Amino acid sequence: MSKTMTAAMLLAALSFNPLFGQKKTIDQKVDSLLQKMTIEEKVGQLNQYSGRELTGPASDKKTDIASDIKNGWVGSMLNVKGVKDTREVQEMAMQSRLKIPLLFGLDVIHGYSTIFPIPLAEAASWDLEVIAQSAHVAATEAAAAGIHWTFAPMVDVARDARWGRVMEGAGEDPFLGSMIAKARVIGFQGKQLGGTDAIMACAKHFAAYGAAIAGRDYNAVDMSEVTLWQDYLPPFKAAADAGVATFMNSFNTLNGVPATGNSYLQRTILKGKWNYTGFVVSDWNSIGEMTRWGYAENAADAASKAINAGSDMDMEARVYRRNLVELVKQGKVKQNIVDDAVRRVLRKKFELGLFDDPYKFSDAAREQKVFGTDFNPVARDVAKKSIVLLKNERNTLPLQNSYNKIALIGPLVKAKRDLAGSWSLTPDSAKMISLYQGFENVYKATQLSYTKGGEILSATDEDIQQAVELAKQSDIVIMALGETWDMTGESKSRADIHVPGKQEALFNAVKATGKPVVVVLMAGRPMIFNDIADKADAIVYAWWLGTEAGNAIVDVLTGKYNPAGKLPVTFPHDNGQMPLYYAYLNTGRPYVGQKSKQYLSAYIDAPNTPRYAFGYGLSYTTFKYSDMKLDRTEMTAKDSIVVTCTVANTGKYTGEEVVQLYLRDEFASVVRPVKELKGFSKIKLEPGQQTTVRFVISNELLKFYNSQLQYISEPGSFKLMIGSASDDIRLDGTFKLK
Ligand code: NOJ
Repeated sequence: MSKTMTAAMLLAALSFNPLFGQKKTIDQKVDSLLQKMTIEEKVGQLNQYSGRELTGPASDKKTDIASDIKNGWVGSMLNVKGVKDTREVQEMAMQSRLKIPLLFGLDVIHGYSTIFPIPLAEAASWDLEVIAQSAHVAATEAAAAGIHWTFAPMVDVARDARWGRVMEGAGEDPFLGSMIAKARVIGFQGKQLGGTDAIMACAKHFAAYGAAIAGRDYNAVDMSEVTLWQDYLPPFKAAADAGVATFMNSFNTLNGVPATGNSYLQRTILKGKWNYTGFVVSDWNSIGEMTRWGYAENAADAASKAINAGSDMDMEARVYRRNLVELVKQGKVKQNIVDDAVRRVLRKKFELGLFDDPYKFSDAAREQKVFGTDFNPVARDVAKKSIVLLKNERNTLPLQNSYNKIALIGPLVKAKRDLAGSWSLTPDSAKMISLYQGFENVYKATQLSYTKGGEILSATDEDIQQAVELAKQSDIVIMALGETWDMTGESKSRADIHVPGKQEALFNAVKATGKPVVVVLMAGRPMIFNDIADKADAIVYAWWLGTEAGNAIVDVLTGKYNPAGKLPVTFPHDNGQMPLYYAYLNTGRPYVGQKSKQYLSAYIDAPNTPRYAFGYGLSYTTFKYSDMKLDRTEMTAKDSIVVTCTVANTGKYTGEEVVQLYLRDEFASVVRPVKELKGFSKIKLEPGQQTTVRFVISNELLKFYNSQLQYISEPGSFKLMIGSASDDIRLDGTFKLK
């Protein structure tokens, strides 16, 4: 063998040897680091503390966090933000023996500096690109402020509007929720981790947190396996499939076992069946709280139960930090369980590139540049697309030019902080555009008049009288009513979701003047407002829309933008109807409007139907659905049916429509809902224009979990419905699966 040949072969061999220099894979780097770590340092990687700001109940203040970091006993911090602070804290980690960088996590739920609509509002856009774009801007700003990781998206299916956290997710539907989960993960993380405009996402709260009994936050969850798999797990699976870097578990129990100590959820399903390779962070002190639930005898027992069940990182409980080393030494927790958790955490730090440069995200020049960028036009676009037009009698909207005297009435007309909603970190109220400012940006000051009409929770007769007087002197009244920002969110469950205080009385008094009244409702959840729904001339549901709220709402009121939002969640008539959702089971005694309700599944004092249904939302134009065609009416599990229909804009305005496809499996071994969303398409049409909308019904869409939890389809007949809302089906037909 010649010398040159040997050298060439050696080179080739080296470049194929993954253990050599640069060619080492991340897993190999993780393994070699792991070998150098003491058990204390390993447990340190699983320990997460909060910085000064608290997003949960204060833990013990005695911990010397700085010295723990310098000793290598901390893997991650939450609630530390900004280049200066993250750099300062990272410098402490660089003083530790192995210099393992910290991860900085934060609740970047709907924007960082530029505040976007609350997630539930964004879901009303049914616009996946726009939703991904909003997450991308949030990631860009957060990453420029030293953040590596957001605790979002929340992908909990929520069917009970009493639960305050309904605002944080995508609503009640597993199909829409899965699509949005994926869009948000991609928006936050980009194509892959490592870029400085991408941060790790976190699918939370695993699992079933949205089904807290009676809508009371942190409560127990009792749920059948079929419901868990069918309705609550799909958005998590979608997030995992989209490559979400982390999961967060939840505060609730699931059928008696806290999610944090739930090996079935975290080991069997997530890390087992789904083969998930990211890591799981606990929720705030949820490991510690297992003792209060009565599931763990003491803190050590909680630590052992949580780590064995697959909770990799302990957020703020300090239970791992204080107990895990000893538990491993005593052989009560196996070393390889800890190693696996540490490996998962370290892998992400390598993927983010933090070992190459721990200050990669803490760059003052980039921070300055990004925060000098104006993202408000994106926020305005997302905000206007999140608005839902609930009512528009006699084309009250868009506002006619002939209105010379516009009265703006209500406690939210000039609100600013409220527009940011819950889970916006330090919203700068000065930057928020109020509804009043939105009007000022378009109308002359002489056209506008204003009175507050009282506070959200209280109004005097005088407040109401002043509003009535103002209304009498105007051509039209715009009222802004709803909740304060902190009435919906974590720990903000409400037993009564009516528009609070005397706001409906204020509305009734103003409406009694005979002037046309447009009501803009702002809230983080569905509210009940039957008088307004019955009597207002127009109703716009504007949630909490963020920085550009006022401009976006005025875009809609004036017709500069034709609203196209559709409700991602059902609005009830009555508190007693909750949980209320469109994909219900028919019962053996369905009430469908018969004269007598005797022996039927109905309330004697309330309707069964919602006030506003899932998928509902009006436009300034009208759409006609026609010509539904199925390319076949029978299919096997191997093929699919193509269904097409024509949708035409029959009104006067250019508009967008979300065309919705629902299916019903008419007979099955497990009773199936009366309707389930299985597809949607958002289209835009000029007046007079029409288009063909196409859906493909594959066997996959017909599958469900049977009582053995097999994911199968069953031969038989299916109903197919295409419509503009779940209660506004325009075309239907049937087909058979052979
Ligand atoms: C508790 C919340 O449940 C969770 O969603 C959040 O990410 C953490 N606190 C951290 O703030």
